[in-house]
Amino acid sequence: MSTAANHILFVHGFPFHGGMWRAQLDGLPAGWHGLAPDLRGFGSAPAGAGAGLAADWTMDTFADDMAALLDGHGIERAVVCGLSMGGYISFAFWRRHGDRVRALVLADTRAGADTAEGRASRHAMAEEVVERGTEVVARAMLPKLFAPSTRREKPEVVERVRSMIEGTAPATVAAAQRAMAARPDSTPDLPGIVVPTLVVAGEQDALTGPDEARSMAHALPAARLELIPDAGHMSPMERPEAFNAVLGDWLGSLPAGG
Ligand code: MLT
Repeated sequence: MSTAANHILFVHGFPFHGGMWRAQLDGLPAGWHGLAPDLRGFGSAPAGAGAGLAADWTMDTFADDMAALLDGHGIERAVVCGLSMGGYISFAFWRRHGDRVRALVLADTRAGADTAEGRASRHAMAEEVVERGTEVVARAMLPKLFAPSTRREKPEVVERVRSMIEGTAPATVAAAQRAMAARPDSTPDLPGIVVPTLVVAGEQDALTGPDEARSMAHALPAARLELIPDAGHMSPMERPEAFNAVLGDWLGSLPAGG
């Protein structure tokens, strides 16, 4: 297994794909190698058997897929960077494969589980999307994902996100919604996450904003907190230069050694 190089594994949010990290892959500091896979069923990745309402996917399923991906690349340890659902998966990865985590980036995400109401609305969306298609998801999510300045000044970013959402198979949306509804509370894990952790959020993230980020950073033993101005939930796509500057600076601060 390779331990010499600096690897970073980017885990996308819901319902997007690995292409959301394009600017981060392009902007990594010298000496760093990035992977930004499509999670099962998203982008061009096969869903395997059992997507849809009957699927038994969990955050652990995705985390184990990511561990297998690292195996396939001969990578023993990596910085794991997850946005939103990618953050939920990063927590699962930490619990199941913690010795493979060199450091963590928790971007626009939360540690807590869903409320009963939140779970019910995920189950409702899972059923609706199977009946009516992913436009339902785009309509529900797009108004919440961006800072006002992104909508005004960067309509192409909004359209890229719309196309990722609408391109996701309804069966994948349903399976992932049910998996997120079932995820455990990761808050009790925070004090035990001893690796360096960058907590980052768009200042105007209406879904998992600065308050969530502050409270996670407070509970983590080795956290750096960074807020990205003029960005919402999709901060790496909305303000890639600012996101990359924060990420690059923090990567440069990590102790040497893969
Ligand atoms: C995401 O961006 O991954 C979603 O907002 C996560 C969620 O639905 O909780």
